[in-house]
Amino acid sequence: LQSIESLKSIAWSDDHIVLLDQTLLPVEESYLQVRELAILIEAIKKLRVRGAPALGVAGALGVVLIMDQAARSGWSDSMLQAGIDELRHARPTAVNLAWGVDQVRHLVPAGRAAVLAAALEVLEDDCRSNLEMAANGVAELASHFQLTLQSRKLRLLTHCNTGSLATAGIGTALGVIKSAFNAGLVEEVLADESRPLLQGGRLTAFELARAGIPFRIQPDSAAAMAMLNGMVDAAFVGADRIAANGDSANKIGTLSVALAAKAAGIPFYIVAPESTVDRSIESGADIEIELRGDEELTQFNGKQIAPLGTKTFNPAFDVTPAHLIAGVITEKKIYRVSDGERL
Ligand code: MRU
Repeated sequence: LQSIESLKSIAWSDDHIVLLDQTLLPVEESYLQVRELAILIEAIKKLRVRGAPALGVAGALGVVLIMDQAARSGWSDSMLQAGIDELRHARPTAVNLAWGVDQVRHLVPAGRAAVLAAALEVLEDDCRSNLEMAANGVAELASHFQLTLQSRKLRLLTHCNTGSLATAGIGTALGVIKSAFNAGLVEEVLADESRPLLQGGRLTAFELARAGIPFRIQPDSAAAMAMLNGMVDAAFVGADRIAANGDSANKIGTLSVALAAKAAGIPFYIVAPESTVDRSIESGADIEIELRGDEELTQFNGKQIAPLGTKTFNPAFDVTPAHLIAGVITEKKIYRVSDGERL
């Protein structure tokens, strides 16, 4: 699976980070060469690079970039540390960004080679854990739907983008879906478009089309109807931060999917690496939710659609409570959080 998956959202090349600019997809496949902290932070805030695990890699590689920039520009140690802190806080909800920075920053005194090696390990580990999550997810589908699979394949729903564009490998929830398709288990994927930035309609659709997986996109608001009308067997989504009790933050609209899945009696799964689990927080109440700019709602494709001056409520994420989650699938195991299992 890895070999047919050539799409790379983020990589290190010699002396710079290479990013696939996701704001231009699927119309344009354009790569950015990033050598400066300010450019990296702009790319993170504008979602040119996005998705929790890819942000973890950006955090780790970003520390190498900052060390290079500090050496070029004669920064003091405190300027370098301030730069690392700024990167660490560029987006608040996905714990992977801070985690990725923390995986390597303690090696700064050991020098650039040590930091680069550790950052590349973060990237490799993510590829590996994607494959392990996929194996765990496919095993879960095969056992949960043993009877159904004797007569037909499964219809799966997903929200936002959790594939190669959001990680360093095949993806988390979308990695499970790709592997399940390769195992002959999937009939169709319904991908929520994921308003307002359309990570589903643009990015998940791009990946599914490339992988040759039958899919349709739907407005987020059609997900409840699709599930209650018997068009979906299971829902798989990713996460940006998971609390110790299993409450999971993910792209806004995920909570509505989980509530509708519960009402329809459909299993709803979170798929995420252990690096997305924040064991320092007890529940989702402690997760900081990123609020984004008005223009994401008042404009569409740069064109004003709401009356000028319209105020917005534009949270980037919501929190799904553990009792709605059939399982949190990581590379290690499946946590049955709705049964009270803790991470
Ligand atoms: O705002 P985004 O596009 O970074 O949000 C991404 C998501 O919500 C993903 O579902 C999550 O990060 C998991 S990616 C494997």
